[in-house]
Amino acid sequence: MFERQARFEPQALRSSFRQLYGKEPRLFSAPGRVNLIGEHTDYNEGFVLPMAADRRTYVAAASRDDRCFSVYSFNLEEDGQFELNKKISPPRKRWLAYIEGVARLLVEKGINLKGADIAISSELPMGAGLSSSAALEIAVGFALLKLTETRVDLMQLAQAAQEAEHLFVGTRSGLMDQLTATFAVKNHALLIDCRSLERKATPVNLPAMAVVVCDTRIKHELATSAYNERRHECEQAVEILRKKKPTIRSLRDVSIDDLEQYGGLLPETLQRRVRHVVTENQRTLLASEALPRGDADRLGQLMYESHDSLRNDYEVSCRELDIMVALARQQEGVSGARMMGGGFGGSTVNLVRRDTLEQFARAVSDGYTWATGLVPVVIPVEADEGVCELE
Ligand code: GLA
Repeated sequence: MFERQARFEPQALRSSFRQLYGKEPRLFSAPGRVNLIGEHTDYNEGFVLPMAADRRTYVAAASRDDRCFSVYSFNLEEDGQFELNKKISPPRKRWLAYIEGVARLLVEKGINLKGADIAISSELPMGAGLSSSAALEIAVGFALLKLTETRVDLMQLAQAAQEAEHLFVGTRSGLMDQLTATFAVKNHALLIDCRSLERKATPVNLPAMAVVVCDTRIKHELATSAYNERRHECEQAVEILRKKKPTIRSLRDVSIDDLEQYGGLLPETLQRRVRHVVTENQRTLLASEALPRGDADRLGQLMYESHDSLRNDYEVSCRELDIMVALARQQEGVSGARMMGGGFGGSTVNLVRRDTLEQFARAVSDGYTWATGLVPVVIPVEADEGVCELE
């Protein structure tokens, strides 16, 4: 019913690396991201409440004397190379673009990176909305910084990874996923203020509940273009609103009162986009109080509201995500469910009583397969720590 996870064996990655490159590696890892609440708020300088998943991307790496990078992915059984001294030569494989992107951005930030031999092995499904891309960028970037024996500025790393997505992959993503992969704290979620970038570790104080990710196994083509379009719509709304209230620098500065007072100046679609962001920020702050208090019902209710807002006002859900949330909502023991991440496919995040987990997985899987013909993947996750080096 659940996706069973083979325990990661660092020794196996170490010995495969030795066979590939004939030298001894150092090992690093970074986690996937599960966002409890606060969706499409990060690039509006708002609040998010993510945690790291206990599914990680592992990187074995050893430095070289030149400025060449040789990379092997065990999951894809593919290799790739690039040289920092040479210009980028497209077309490149997407997974390699993340790696080359982060390496080049670190160099641009003034770090004199050495070349490296790299091997990658990941427990994170790709395209499932767990941000396997941020885990890859952060794990590799951290490894490269450590190998260069430079002081590691973690914020600089997270920002380099985000810029790599913008410049090398073409998604104008916010910083939530990279901040989570970098700074997550075990057994905690992070309340992140995406303006100041301040992070507050918030205990996941819900011993009777499990956080469960349900992967719809679908990714609509629309995802990247619609994501960039939403971001643009938010910028347009700011432009219009600041004519009336010049202190508005981003949607973070818009209150419910502002929306009531000035909302009429916006086209109807933009009104709804703004309403999502403004109310989602509020929900996220409320959730960050409910979580350490152990109030699963309140947190769950906020998650349901978040989903409705993402579906109706922000319009980033899709039929499969709505079905998955509706099915979860019918199950006993479920406090909350909502779509997670950018939208148009990927996963939902659910708050499920641990003693009903088996039953939840069966009912949701069967119902989803019946409605869509697809077999979903149900993944219970625990809050893990951010990027680290393995001993
Ligand atoms: C993607 C982006 C994040 C964030 C979410 C939506 O995961 O990478 O920065 O914007 O979508 O909340």
